[in-house]
Amino acid sequence: MPKSDNSSAASQPSRRAFLKTSTAAAAGALAGGLSIGRSAHAAEDGTLKVGLIGCGGRGTGAAVNALSADPNTTLTALADAFADRMAGSLKTLKQRFGDRVTADEGTCFLGFDAYQKLIDSGVDVVILATPPHFRPIQLKAAIDAGKHVFCEKPVAVDGPGVRSVLATTEEAGKKGLSLVSGLCWRYHLGVKETMQRVADGAIGDIVSIQETYNTGHVGRSQPRQPEWTEMEYQLRNWYFFTWLSGDHNVEQHVHSLDKTSWVMGDQPPLRAWGLGGRQVRTDPVYGDIFDHHAVVYEYDKGVRAYAYCRQQPECWSSTEDYFFGTKGTCNVLNKYRIEGANPWRYEGPGCNMYEEEHKALFQSIRSGEPINNGRYMAVSTMLAILGRMVTYTGQAISWDDALNSQETLSPESYSWDAAPPTVPGPDGSYPIAMPGQTKLV
Ligand SMILES: NC(=O)c1ccc[n+]([C@@H]2O[C@H](COP(=O)([O-])OP(=O)(O)OC[C@H]3O[C@@H](n4cnc5c(N)ncnc54)[C@H](O)[C@@H]3O)[C@@H](O)[C@H]2O)c1
Repeated sequence: MPKSDNSSAASQPSRRAFLKTSTAAAAGALAGGLSIGRSAHAAEDGTLKVGLIGCGGRGTGAAVNALSADPNTTLTALADAFADRMAGSLKTLKQRFGDRVTADEGTCFLGFDAYQKLIDSGVDVVILATPPHFRPIQLKAAIDAGKHVFCEKPVAVDGPGVRSVLATTEEAGKKGLSLVSGLCWRYHLGVKETMQRVADGAIGDIVSIQETYNTGHVGRSQPRQPEWTEMEYQLRNWYFFTWLSGDHNVEQHVHSLDKTSWVMGDQPPLRAWGLGGRQVRTDPVYGDIFDHHAVVYEYDKGVRAYAYCRQQPECWSSTEDYFFGTKGTCNVLNKYRIEGANPWRYEGPGCNMYEEEHKALFQSIRSGEPINNGRYMAVSTMLAILGRMVTYTGQAISWDDALNSQETLSPESYSWDAAPPTVPGPDGSYPIAMPGQTKLV
């Protein structure tokens, strides 16, 4: 896999220009695409062929969602870095969907370049569910090849990656391809209605926001095997390496920050500052990520978002989104509720938000009215990356500096013998970011 080439992305986007570009991308998405009847790829009977890249827990789940959401779909190809992960996924999916899973030896691809082989195998729709590091390259390859995409969150781990995703988003718009994001709360019926009421003024003007994603331990740590290279070890433990996951405030807290961005109309903040560290998960088996981050995002008109995430066992846990407005308060996740001048609580039907995403995706392809979630998935991911930049460096960093950062968290090459961007020292521990010393490139 070549190193990420972001030269096609807007070279130095300012916050203002970035918004203009994003609006253009969104407008491009409205230009219309090929309906199923006119699609070059769909089979005559309207069957859509789905390919899964990244056959882990979420990828397998997303394939289940895709095949459940639309009965006229088949899973024709799989791609993964590891044979054992792929075998488990294929077995689960075959057991559940039988003949609708047609992937076989000829269409199950392994290794770093497996994604490209899958894209070239004749699929119509691609599910991207590898670790976040790989998303910009794999998304670009899928859109370049004219595929519709379901794209798991987060969509990058660094500024160049986000710029690449923005450029690819524009390309998807021009080509009339659907690009549906795995930021699943945007497809949850209760959350959608709550957010619409807030947008319609139910709590007045937003004054401040509080986000929490405080949990116990998350992520699997697989013991090092003698035959594994350092690259394989890190890939199998991707959650704990910043270059692969972005850190947990990017990998997981992006769900919370996405609601902040959503309520702020997906406009970027001016800047952020914050603090974080690694207090509990200090053992090298936890790679180089922090275990807590606290970040303040400063928006126009004095609005501030206070965002906290922690992965420390035996502590108070909370995953909530509070919006404080001039006329009331909204607690989104607990439980779609508005208090104040216009009290309200969602009492509509429940839903499987993961399946809703795929229903929307396939409906959009079949109707020729493409969905393009590229802009918001890029903004929300960048918000999370900005948070990591400020907790790692200890500095206040503007949106523009973060987005235009040249910091590329990529290895020189992608092969099992290549050195990852971070390597352990003689005592087996990895270099850890140190606020006040770590610099933003
Ligand atoms: N939307 C949600 O609620 C949600 C929930 C869980 C995970 N996710 C996201 O889904 C993604 C995957 O998470 P997961 O929990 O399934 O992880 P996982 O480790 O279970 O699966 C990742 C898979 O990708 C494979 N892989 C790694 N590098 C690869 C490469 N270069 N090419 C091909 N395959 C590669 C791994 O072998 C593994 O099978 C992450 O981005 C995560 O943030 C989203």
